[in-house]
Amino acid sequence: MKLDIVTIFPEYFAPLEISLLGKARRTGLLDVHVHDLRDWTHDRHRTVDDTPYGGGPGMVMKPEPWGEALDALVPSGDAPRMIIPTPSGRPFTQALAAEYAAAPWLLFACGRYEGIDSRVAEEARTRMPVDEVSLGDFVLAGGEVAVLVMVEAVGRLLPGVLGNADSVADDSFAPGAMESLLEGPVYTKPPVWRDRAVPDVLLSGHHGAIARWRRDEALRRTARHRPELLPRLASGALDEHDRRV
Ligand code: ADE
Repeated sequence: MKLDIVTIFPEYFAPLEISLLGKARRTGLLDVHVHDLRDWTHDRHRTVDDTPYGGGPGMVMKPEPWGEALDALVPSGDAPRMIIPTPSGRPFTQALAAEYAAAPWLLFACGRYEGIDSRVAEEARTRMPVDEVSLGDFVLAGGEVAVLVMVEAVGRLLPGVLGNADSVADDSFAPGAMESLLEGPVYTKPPVWRDRAVPDVLLSGHHGAIARWRRDEALRRTARHRPELLPRLASGALDEHDRRV
């Protein structure tokens, strides 16, 4: 998968050199290119922002450097999926991460300040699919951290990036039997630590009982932290036992 990231802070993306994604880059599974938006400015101060039309606080990113960056990075006839992180976008979900993981080429445009002049997305949409995407109902200082989050969520879904493909199947929000349930608690050795024992069932070797226990815990955790997810369970997903949990 090819990833282009356009930003005024290329240094933000140093973490993409380490851990899983760093390895994916070194083995050629991920082809990441980070670009400095200021390379497409032409004034002495390498200006990327200006005051907002209509007044108001803050600054808006000027369209010209973005237009030139997209012209340079996307030859005509070619079309990555363009993603603009913004708190006013559609929610980023595991389903959207899976959709992006199936694309051959993603281009992330990191906004700063009050955002990017709206004509940039409008014009880009005539050439490629453009998504404005939000990580949640909070405001970051810019798109860079949001892009790191999305690249990690997408990158770990690429075949060959995680050592064990099963670990993706068990994730909270992963499609399948446990879809729309949060993952329950996990344990490792030692069996007793500071007087706290691992639940007996996990040491029982009884796979059916373990699966049942994990599902119960997932239901409890979902009810406690995200009750609004429960109605999303497929109809018939809950049996009498679940209802007692
Ligand atoms: N940029 C600033 N805040 C953001 C958010 N919540 N999600 C995505 N991008 C952002």
